[in-house]
Amino acid sequence: MADKPSYFITTPIYYVNAAPHLGTAYCTILADVQARFRRAAGYDVKFLTGMDEHGEKVAEAAATHDMTPQEWCDSQAPLFTNLWDTLEISNDDFIRTTEARQHHAVQYLWERMRESGYLYKGSYDGWYCVPEETYFTETQVEKADEERGTKGEHLCPDCGRPLERVQEESWFFKLSAFQDRLLKLYEEHPEFVQPTFRMNEVRSFVSGGLQDLSVSRTTFDWGIPVPFDDGHVTYVWFDALLNYMTAVGYSCDDEASRKEFAYRWPAQCHVVGKDIIRFHCVIWPAMLMAIQEALPESVFVHGFLTVRNAETGKAEKMSKSRGNAIAPQDVIDLLGVEGYRYYFMIDVTHGEDSAISFERMEQVYNADLANSWGNLVSRSLNMSAKYFDGKTPVLPEDWAEKDGVLKRVAEGMYARYAERMEAFDYAGAKDVVMELIHAANHYIEDSAPWAVAKDPERAGELVEIISSLLESIRISAHLLAPFMPTTSAEVLRRMSLEQEVDTEDLAAQCVWGGLASGVAVTKGEALFPRLATEKR
Ligand code: ME8
Ligand code: MG
Repeated sequence: MADKPSYFITTPIYYVNAAPHLGTAYCTILADVQARFRRAAGYDVKFLTGMDEHGEKVAEAAATHDMTPQEWCDSQAPLFTNLWDTLEISNDDFIRTTEARQHHAVQYLWERMRESGYLYKGSYDGWYCVPEETYFTETQVEKADEERGTKGEHLCPDCGRPLERVQEESWFFKLSAFQDRLLKLYEEHPEFVQPTFRMNEVRSFVSGGLQDLSVSRTTFDWGIPVPFDDGHVTYVWFDALLNYMTAVGYSCDDEASRKEFAYRWPAQCHVVGKDIIRFHCVIWPAMLMAIQEALPESVFVHGFLTVRNAETGKAEKMSKSRGNAIAPQDVIDLLGVEGYRYYFMIDVTHGEDSAISFERMEQVYNADLANSWGNLVSRSLNMSAKYFDGKTPVLPEDWAEKDGVLKRVAEGMYARYAERMEAFDYAGAKDVVMELIHAANHYIEDSAPWAVAKDPERAGELVEIISSLLESIRISAHLLAPFMPTTSAEVLRRMSLEQEVDTEDLAAQCVWGGLASGVAVTKGEALFPRLATEKR
């Protein structure tokens, strides 16, 4: 274990009922950017993602395809892992809930729960939403149907799809006993749920009182068996939430696992969508309180990518089970992987919902990447190569101390950027970097290096102009790397700075003066060829 601080970040583990789509990928990239930023900022990162393979929804998908649930999950796993590879997801681990480590941890959880006194046997009689794997009481369903004008139809209060009536013997987790402790947690740790308006939602939900939760199923068998009661399998969420601890050694007795668990747990951040906020901000901390384990430091809750329903004209959540999903490949074809990552990270306010628009994607790509960033790199590297014989200028000793317009813009940038990144305000972080990129583009116009180059007496001035452009590019490449790692690495390589790729000391890299003197510059191809915008 390194002597750096641990930063453990997770995504939800996704159901394997269908192929991942833009929404699934959005959450995973959101966490990836944070993981990459934290690695660069000097943390020892563990970034976890994976698949949620049990439950009725997955079993139904398998049956539809005439496969056993396990065969189905195995056949789907590459869809997820290949997409994560394509999208440059830098996860350090990929957990599947059908793995032995999860089986072991969940059975261990059952024993701890039984000892805790917060478990009792009863019978469940109520409604169940298979697509959401969520229980609803008669009262909740009636109220939602009433409000929606679908009285008597028994539709899911959350997603509006038909519910299933479930009556079965079941083990219950005494969630109702945790109301006060949860409210105290929210009070003492307002950072536990982010952004703040989501915390308010959670608090008001819990203030309204909590129902005990059915955590085992008997009318259904695709799940982890309850160790002390034959015929009961674990409710899929009771299983799934534990993945975060399983992956860092929970329940394992060997020395290495115990050390890892002590080092990694609690997680610094669970990144989740707003659809599963109650599971992560209410049920999960209550489970941990029951078994006396530390609580995660924060849950970052993002909104949905939405698509317009052609019939109703309303924006609805893009989802695997609704069949309205857009394949990531469609966006990759348009913007390339890095343009894709950049767009979804900087043009979406991460707490809110966001409608998909290909037109907007093209606009942002052309404005920020083709015209601003790509153009700056290509012009500056070209000029350096042209005026300095294929190299960066030979730098005078004190060049970095010299005051200059770009140096002034770059000063203090890292702190402002890091603060935005830590808050998942990636648009804000991007704005900080764009100040420098825009300033550099203006500086080219203002200083007109092509004119300066014609006058041998102004040779010193030319060195100053080109070196401050290259230095601005160097710093920008570092700051954009969490969003577009391949492009940034390429830019640094074009300036013979390959040793700086994947830095673990981003703050130091952002200090003005890191440029290498008199080294080879490669012009290379356009990083972001302009898209010919067509009206869609
Ligand atoms: O809920 N926009 O899995 P899931 C943005 N297995 N994000 C979206 C999205 C959209 N339209 N659609 C999905 C589960 N997501 C459980 C999780 S964790 C212990 C178990 C993202 O496959 C978003 O992050 O339904 C959402 O919370 C997650 O996918 C749900 O994925
Ligand atoms: Mg879902």
